[in-house]
Amino acid sequence: MQFSKLISFLAAAVAAHATNTVTFVSQDASDRTVYFTSNPNMAKVPDTKVPGGQNVTVEIPHAWQGNWFAVRDGEPVVPGMLGEVAFNGWNGITYFDVSAIVNPNDKNNVKQMWPAGEEEPVSGCVLFPCNFAYYLPDDVQTKATLETDLFCSLGSSEASSIDKRSFDADSTPSFPRDFVMGRWSKN
Ligand SMILES: *[C@@H]1O[C@H](CO)[C@@H](O)[C@H](O)[C@H]1NC(C)=O
Repeated sequence: MQFSKLISFLAAAVAAHATNTVTFVSQDASDRTVYFTSNPNMAKVPDTKVPGGQNVTVEIPHAWQGNWFAVRDGEPVVPGMLGEVAFNGWNGITYFDVSAIVNPNDKNNVKQMWPAGEEEPVSGCVLFPCNFAYYLPDDVQTKATLETDLFCSLGSSEASSIDKRSFDADSTPSFPRDFVMGRWSKN
C-alpha cells in the first residue's frame, strides 16, 4: 500500500470511530431523567439527568443500537415516547426515529431528533400526534444521517426556534423501522 493511501486509510478509520453523542435539549423548566435501553449484546448507557432548560450531551458507544425515554422528576418511571437509534450502521450510516408505538400518551418528554450539524432530517413532533413519528410498526419514518452527533429535544417549546423543525421533515428520505432496529444488515 502506498504511504499516502495508508495515511488516508488510517484517517478514515479514525473518522469511522469518532465518538457518538446524543445531546438532550431541555425546552422547559422540568428536570428529567433519560432512561436508556440497549438492544441485546449492546453496552449499557447510564441513565442521565437533564435539568430544566439545559443541554446535556451523552456519549454513546460505537455501533450502539437502542432507545431512550425521558421522565419528569416525581413521575412514575414507565416507558414513554422513544428516541430510537442505530449508530454507525451499513456504510457508516446512523438511523434514528421518534416512536410513539410503546406509549403514544407521553407527549411532553422526547419530542424531536435531528443531526447536530444539520437542520434535517428531523424525526418526531413539536406537538403529538404528527405525521413524523412512528405510530404503527409499518409506518416509514426512520431517518438516516452520516453524522454521529444527534440532538433530541425534551419538553414543550412554544417559543423555541426548534419548533420550526417540523417544516420540511417530509422532504428528506425515510426508511422502514427495520433499519433502526438493526435488521438492515441481515440477508
Ligand atoms: C441547546 O441546544 C440548542 C440546539 O443547538 C440551542 O438552540 C440552545 O441554545 C442550547 N441551549 C443551551 C442552554 O445551551
